[in-house]
Parts: sequence; structure tokens; C-alpha cells
Amino acid sequence: MDVSQAIKERRAYRSLISVRIPDDLIEDLARSAQLAPSCFNNQPWRFVFVRSPEMLERMHEALSSGNVWAHAASMIIAVLSKKEDDCIIRDRIYYQFDCGLAAGFLILRATELGLVAHPIAGYSPKKTKEILGIPEEYQVITLIIVGKHAEQISPVLSDNQKAAEKKRPERKKISEFVSFDRIEG
Ligand SMILES: Cc1cc2nc3c(=O)[nH]c(=O)nc-3n(C[C@H](O)[C@H](O)[C@H](O)COP(=O)(O)O)c2cc1C
Repeated sequence: MDVSQAIKERRAYRSLISVRIPDDLIEDLARSAQLAPSCFNNQPWRFVFVRSPEMLERMHEALSSGNVWAHAASMIIAVLSKKEDDCIIRDRIYYQFDCGLAAGFLILRATELGLVAHPIAGYSPKKTKEILGIPEEYQVITLIIVGKHAEQISPVLSDNQKAAEKKRPERKKISEFVSFDRIEG
């Protein structure tokens, strides 16, 4: 699969079936994140790969009610960082940007490997930190929910979530976010 195919195939699916997560898969995903660019090559990201059934079950407590579908995760990847670990150039604070790039690389690689890798913001960072032993100074930037896409739509989804399984949510028109040479008006 080439990059443009992976970009097109990636979807934030919520109907998941279980998939085995061997060590070499985790290494492969970590290697993809490792090669992402970062400010001054600071590589501010940290990832906690949660895959044991006991820890996955404990993570249910950290998920928001709209993310019950994520109880079917085969792995949850917590993406962590802190602003001191990356460039701060006046009002430009780069740690979340660089973690987003690394997470994006990881998500595309997971897509290429036939997996769903769905980032979420709907979780309690406090509970996530308690469960995963994450030091207070870190920010939990996202959790990436990993599994295999199920053909059957999960019954726990809301109507909107069910609709999004069938059809990718609409995007803004390119003309709404692209300008040529300078922004007019
Ligand atoms: C930072 C971030 C937070 C998100 N949080 C959630 C979430 O809490 N729950 C959820 O079901 N989807 C979440 N999503 C997925 C988006 O809803 C999804 O990417 C968007 O609707 C577009 O759909 P697509 O990725 O399938 O194209 C999140 C995505 C991102 C990047």
C-alpha cells in the first residue's frame, strides 16, 4: 500500500473485533513513529502500549461514555508528552504538534497493516495517569484505540456513530482552507 492509499483507507471506525497484538507489531508501529520529524529532532513523544486483557479492562474506567465502543480495543496506545521536552519559541509550543506527527505516522502504518487506529480525546487524563502510572508532569495527548474493523456495525454505537461507520464524515471544501499566495478579504 502506498501513502496515498493509506491516507484514503484510514478511518476512525468504531466497530471493532479482536486482533492479536504480537511484540513485532508494537515494534513496527513504534519504528514508524520514531521516524517522524520533530523540532530540533527533540522527539518529545512517549507511547504506552496497553495490550494485556487486565490493563485494557482497567482502562474502561478512563473512557468517556461516548466511547463505550472502545471497550472492544485490542490495544490502547497512550500518547504522552510535556512541553519542556520540545521547542518553545515565544508563543509557539511544539510538543503537541510533534506528537501529532508521530501519531499520524503510526496511524498510517497501522492502516497499512490492516488495522483500525482511532485517536480519541474522550477520556479522563487523571484516571488514565492513575491506571498507567504516568507521572503527573506529563500530558496525555490522546489515546489511540486499535483493533480490527468489524463488518457488523457495533450495537453500542449512537445513530451518528452508526452513520459514520457507513460513510466518512463530510470534510470542508478545499477552497475553505486553502489559499494561493495570500489570504484575501
Ligand atoms: C484529537 C481527536 C480526538 C477524537 N476524539 C474522538 C472521541 O473521543 N471519540 C470518537 O469516537 N472519535 C474521536 N475522534 C475521531 C473523529 O471523530 C474522526 O476522526 C472524524 O469524525 C473524521 O472521521 P474519519 O477519521 O473516519 O475520517 C477524534 C479524532 C481526533 C483526531
